[in-house]
Amino acid sequence: MFENGGARWRNVLLNGDCREILQGVADETVNLIVTSPPYADSRKNTYGGIHPDAYVAWFLPIAAQLWRVLRSDGTFVLNIKEKVVDGERHPYVLELILALRRQGWLWTEEYIWHKKNCAPGKWPNRFRDSWERCLQFNKQKQFKMFQEAVMVPTGDWAKSRLKNLSETDQRRDNSRVGSGFGKNVSNWMGRDMAYPTNVLHLATECGNKSHSAAFPRELPSWFIKLFSEQGDLVLDPFAGSGTTCIAARLLGRDYLGIEIKDEYFQLAQANLQDAAAIPVQRTLL
Ligand SMILES: C[S@@+](CC[C@H](N)C(=O)[O-])C[C@H]1O[C@@H](n2cnc3c(N)ncnc32)[C@H](O)[C@@H]1O
Repeated sequence: MFENGGARWRNVLLNGDCREILQGVADETVNLIVTSPPYADSRKNTYGGIHPDAYVAWFLPIAAQLWRVLRSDGTFVLNIKEKVVDGERHPYVLELILALRRQGWLWTEEYIWHKKNCAPGKWPNRFRDSWERCLQFNKQKQFKMFQEAVMVPTGDWAKSRLKNLSETDQRRDNSRVGSGFGKNVSNWMGRDMAYPTNVLHLATECGNKSHSAAFPRELPSWFIKLFSEQGDLVLDPFAGSGTTCIAARLLGRDYLGIEIKDEYFQLAQANLQDAAAIPVQRTLL
C-alpha cells in the first residue's frame, strides 16, 4: 500500500505483473497514465501475446485498477493498434473502447501517432502501417490539461494562409456540420505559436534497439506536458524499456513503472540510470 502519502511508490520501477502490483497502489494517487500494453497476439515470441478475441476480457480488470488508482481529474492515454487477422483488421480495439465506456471511462479524444519515418512496405491487400492510436480516457469531463505547454511554431502555414483572408476568415465561422466548434482564422495573425492538432508526427526511431516495441520518448513527453504538472505522479503499468518513466523524470514529474519481464525491467533500470545524468527540464508548468 502507499505509505507516507505515497512517497514509497514514487520514482520506482517494479518488476512484476501489473495485475497484482496495481492492487497495492492506493486509490486516486496517480495523475496520469501513459502506456502501451502488449498488442493482441502480435509479439508472441517476445513477451506473450493475448489472442485478439480474448483481449477485452484480459484488459478490463487492469482498466478497473487503473480507474481506481487514477485521480478524478487525471487522464489515461492508451497507445494501441489493431492487428490484421485473416485479411482484415480485428475489431478488438473498437470493442475495447466500447467496453471501457461501459466501465465508466469517457473516451475524450483519439490522437494519432504518425510514424513519420516509417520505411516503405507493401502487402498484397494493404500498405505499410504508419500510424497508431493514442486513445484518451477520463473519469470526468473536467481534467487537468495544459494546452499552452504543447504549442507549436505557427510556421509557414500562417504566412501563406493569412495573406489573403476571405470575409469568412475574419469572423467566427461556425462548423457547418453542427459540431458546435467555430473558428476565426484571422485570430492567428501576428502570432508565433499555435495549438497543435491531434496528429503527432514523430519519428519511430528512439535509440532504444533492445526493446522490440519501445515508443519514442517524445510520445509520452507530449502527453505528460499536456496532462500533468511538475511533481505529479505518472504511471506506466507496461513499462517496457522505461520510456514513459524517463520522460516523466526528465520533465520533473514522479513516475511509477511496472514491467513483468526481467530482461526489460533490467533494461529500463539501466535506461533510467542513464537518464539520471540528464538535467531535468523545467517546463512552464
Ligand atoms: C508494448 S511494450 C511497452 C514498451 C514501452 N512503451 C517502451 O517504450 O519501452 C509492453 C510491455 O508490457 C510488458 N507486460 C506484458 N504484460 C505485462 C503485465 N501483466 N504486467 C506488467 N508488464 C507487462 C511486456 O513485457 C512489454 O515490455
